[in-house]
Amino acid sequence: MAVIHFAPLQGYTDSVYREVHARIFGGVDTYYTPFVRVEKSGFRNKDLKDIARDGNKQAHVVPQLIASTPDEFRLIVRLFREKGYREVDINLGCPFPMQVRAHRGSGLLPHQEEAESLLHTIEEFPDLSFSVKMRLGWERTEESFALLPLLNKLPLKHITLHPRLGIQQYKGVVDWDGFSRFYEECRHPLYYNGDLLGLEDIRAVKERFPGLAGIMLGRGLLASPWLASEYMSGQALNVKEIRERLVTFHDLLMDEYATRLEGGEHQLLSKMKTVWDYLLPEADKKPRKKVLKSTSLTSYRSAVKDLLNP
Ligand SMILES: Cc1cc2nc3c(=O)[nH]c(=O)nc-3n(C[C@H](O)[C@H](O)[C@H](O)COP(=O)(O)O)c2cc1C
Repeated sequence: MAVIHFAPLQGYTDSVYREVHARIFGGVDTYYTPFVRVEKSGFRNKDLKDIARDGNKQAHVVPQLIASTPDEFRLIVRLFREKGYREVDINLGCPFPMQVRAHRGSGLLPHQEEAESLLHTIEEFPDLSFSVKMRLGWERTEESFALLPLLNKLPLKHITLHPRLGIQQYKGVVDWDGFSRFYEECRHPLYYNGDLLGLEDIRAVKERFPGLAGIMLGRGLLASPWLASEYMSGQALNVKEIRERLVTFHDLLMDEYATRLEGGEHQLLSKMKTVWDYLLPEADKKPRKKVLKSTSLTSYRSAVKDLLNP
């Protein structure tokens, strides 16, 4: 049985979402924060709020950083340490153009020397444990394999590999041959990430790569928040159970966002609508559209009720 990690998804898996997910569905061993970065003006308030300890009590949370230089890396790691974290995840996978242009995320992978100097900074923090989340490369698979000898030597807790190239963004096929080669050559515990949407997908990957330490799920868990607990318990939930839990999950999310967000009805409505960007993609089209098009909390609530209690 593989351990399940919940992938970081900027704009979706914030602290409220992670905590409510852990309370209502669970099945997830580790949640990651969306990446924290340093800007000219310092840290973003949004990031500071997201990693605050009082908002991260229910779940095992590992904060993630994105950086291009050792200086940026040190600043963020010290912040995490100050906040009491002992584990740090390093983002070498993000394909967003702004980050890539700044040689961050998957944009660092083609620059071997810069990537190596960033990774060596890990050695300055022997009291912390580091993991890496990466792609096979920005535009060539060889980029990750050029870094692998160093990665193998560093004291990493694990590596998570999303076997796509940065230039593919989130589309196109995943590179199973590339993953398979990395699996053979990587000396650290390895987690697979990418495009797993259901129980059968998870089981097939675990069967094909029995030595995997675990699986990281992103969009599949946003779509079916019960997927991790279903996999871990080995028992499929029936439609009624899923709906009941979804109603609890949804209502608690809304209550928690209502308490935290300061922008009133409009902000709460747009936040709740983002939950539906991925949730229940197979639900009936008409009521789903009504949810996404609602213009007030009243119409939103009634549309969600129709969708979840047909
Ligand atoms: C909207 C969005 C935001 C994301 N934000 C992050 C992030 O902050 N850090 C990160 O490492 N990956 C991020 N990712 C990538 C996911 O963690 C994951 O690697 C990717 O979606 C592939 O896994 P999946 O097919 O299971 O979703 C993001 C992906 C999406 C679609």
